Amino acid sequence: MTETKAVITLITGADKGIGFATAQALGKKGQQILVGARDQQRGEQAVARLKTAGVAATFIQLDVTDKAQIKAAVARIKVDYGYLSILINNAGIALGSHLPASQMSTDTMRQEFDVNFFGLVDVTQAMIPLLKAGQPAKIINVSSNMGSLGLASDPNSRFYKVSSLGYQATKASVDFATILLSKELVTEGITVNSVNPGWTATNFGGRPSDAPKPAGMQDVVTGAAQIVKMASLPLDDPQTGTFTENEGTLPW
Ligand SMILES: NC(=O)c1ccc[n+]([C@@H]2O[C@H](COP(=O)([O-])OP(=O)(O)OC[C@H]3O[C@@H](n4cnc5c(N)ncnc54)[C@H](OP(=O)(O)O)[C@@H]3O)[C@@H](O)[C@H]2O)c1
Repeated sequence: MTETKAVITLITGADKGIGFATAQALGKKGQQILVGARDQQRGEQAVARLKTAGVAATFIQLDVTDKAQIKAAVARIKVDYGYLSILINNAGIALGSHLPASQMSTDTMRQEFDVNFFGLVDVTQAMIPLLKAGQPAKIINVSSNMGSLGLASDPNSRFYKVSSLGYQATKASVDFATILLSKELVTEGITVNSVNPGWTATNFGGRPSDAPKPAGMQDVVTGAAQIVKMASLPLDDPQTGTFTENEGTLPW
């Protein structure tokens, strides 16, 4: 008799928005979901909602900027499961509104980099031993079309006139992490890919939950769809070092 190993999936920032929708969809496909959240109450409420929907979910306290919490999360996953199959680096913030780059505060940019880039790298580096123990395994980095250098420099792209230096630079940096880690980890049975959710109706950037959805803004299930697709591929699927969205491949 062959035993099938459970797919253990950690999602950062999974208490709401795209992270929560991803948790719900992957949980319904049978993955064991570790709900990373910095706020205990919101995290536990998310777990309760997932359980009501029939998902096997567990709360893991994880502020991605808090190295002690990252260490504790690694220790807990090691004791409870011994490995990790999928890490979805979803937690993210956008603080700087759209301003000319010459006027963007570096203090604001530093806060964005702490969460979106350094937090992502710290969590990833800490989780790699658990992913190696679970290999074949996947890392999915939630990036953004706003971080695409190709789109930002293309006069025919709608992103040509977008200017949000901190957020855009954090996501371009996330993509650099994807490229370098994908090459480093390919021999370890771990794939690393970036995904753009697209413009999605969440609380992102301080958008209120009851705000009307402007034309072109997609619902959260559609926003999670490409992440869910990548995380649902067989764990030994060799695709690595890609940047995709629902519509296909994006330029870096
Ligand atoms: N919505 C869009 O249009 C869009 C487009 C492209 C890319 N994205 C990306 O999609 C990802 C998810 O965004 P979303 O739209 O779902 O936004 P959201 O509803 O604001 O959710 C963001 C999540 O990140 C968490 N988070 C923030 N700082 C954190 C920290 N220090 N440690 C751990 N978690 C933290 C939040 O936790 P709290 O509940 O505690 O705040 C929340 O769970 C982000 O990486 C974002 O850049 C979004």
